Amino acid sequence: MEYLDETEKQLSIIEELSRRLKAEEEKTGVKKTFHVVTFGCQMNARDSEKLAGILRRIGYVETDTEDADFVIYNTCTVRENADLRVYGRLGQMKRVKEKHPGMLIALCGCMMQEPAAVEKIRKSYRNVDIIFGTHNIFKLAQLIQERLDTGEIVVDIWPDRDMIVENLPSERKYPFKCGVNIMFGCNNFCSYCIVPYVRGRERSRRPEDILSEIRADVADGVVEVMLLGQNVNSYGKNLETPVSFAQLLRQVSEIDGLQRIRFMTSHPKDLSDELIAVMADADNICRHIHLPVQSGSNRILKAMNRHYTREDYLRLVDKLRTAMPDIAITTDIIVGYPEETEQDFQDTLDLVKEVGYDGAFTFIYSKRTGTPAAKIPYNISKEEIKDRFDRLLAQVQCDSKKALEKRLGTVQSVLVESPNDHDPSMVTGRLESNAIVHFPGSADLIGRIVQVKMTENRSFYYIGERVSV
Ligand code: 5AD
Ligand code: SF4
Repeated sequence: MEYLDETEKQLSIIEELSRRLKAEEEKTGVKKTFHVVTFGCQMNARDSEKLAGILRRIGYVETDTEDADFVIYNTCTVRENADLRVYGRLGQMKRVKEKHPGMLIALCGCMMQEPAAVEKIRKSYRNVDIIFGTHNIFKLAQLIQERLDTGEIVVDIWPDRDMIVENLPSERKYPFKCGVNIMFGCNNFCSYCIVPYVRGRERSRRPEDILSEIRADVADGVVEVMLLGQNVNSYGKNLETPVSFAQLLRQVSEIDGLQRIRFMTSHPKDLSDELIAVMADADNICRHIHLPVQSGSNRILKAMNRHYTREDYLRLVDKLRTAMPDIAITTDIIVGYPEETEQDFQDTLDLVKEVGYDGAFTFIYSKRTGTPAAKIPYNISKEEIKDRFDRLLAQVQCDSKKALEKRLGTVQSVLVESPNDHDPSMVTGRLESNAIVHFPGSADLIGRIVQVKMTENRSFYYIGERVSV
């Protein structure tokens, strides 16, 4: 059969599978279930929504346990720990699968782009039915069909992607907010990072596709979008008609009814004045930027191939705060990069103190085979790294508590996201700064933006009370 395009082909396979599933369900009288387990970043979270959308369209019903008819692990490989967690889960699943006839287990995501990991899984985890990568998640239905037709393990990993397939079903975890991919891949090759090898080269979606997806989301009840890319600041460079991220952001901010826009991640080397101006100008772009610094030592930044100095970074922070005094700044920091000395670490600690971050994700360097940093001899002891990590964490926690203090007593716009986990009379929401507040309220507020006064600083979050304005 000839298809007009890839989307049409996948939709027709989804339909065929859906008929097969229905026929089976009619025989057994039970609905088939699925469960998606997501590791890693926002990109993976968004990919998982797409996978869930396809599975639901086929007719599987989502369940919250891994004892499901179709289980999929969307893996991450940015640090070694992430890999180990996947192997642990697969080990546990051996028994679960034995007791669950017909169960299918699929693996996808960044870890599957590494041949060594795939080989290990094929050898040691024979309970896996389908393996695919980061570039062909749109093919899920076709891969399931192949598995059902052949009864054999299906492995389909693409080294890179030459097309972006639009308009397949996708599901949102929350009805009121969602992530939107604006680009895929990364061209930066930071020396420690595996992402460019597993996510491939940068490719931007066309602005018209992004805008129409967001318009449809808004019509469907979305009030907040998060624009996603490994380095959103280099968006649009490879398009037929180049568009800057700042231009795209302005167009997104003009969409009627869209109340909040976030984006991540921003690489400091590409953050333009134009972007700062757009952020300062639009009142629906959240006053928050995630700006990974990675290190405060110029020597280490150079070794990391980051293309900025600590002075450049501090100047950028200054510019952002001059344009938007209330902006929240968060970051990522790596401790224990090969050859990091105590002095390099002190430079990081000093930079962290100087910026006074609203929040920071701190990571211990993890060697990733295939990256340039993996070839550098490693000379820092485990104890030393742990000690640096603890000192950094103490500083970061102290600063984020101070950052919360700044907004204590003020009234802030809050998007209510969920009922409170511990107290049913409370709800939980997020400020523009991304800080969390718990306050008395009922579940009907979920998905709404309300005004809340920050009454208590509990170090990692606020307690607040709703005010009417
Ligand atoms: N080791 C430790 N942290 C890493 N990151 C990326 N690669 C590594 C690695 N090999 C961190 C960076 C990045 C974040 C997503 O993960 O800080 O910004
Ligand atoms: Fe990795 Fe650097 Fe690309 Fe971020 S910008 S994904 S840290 S290579």
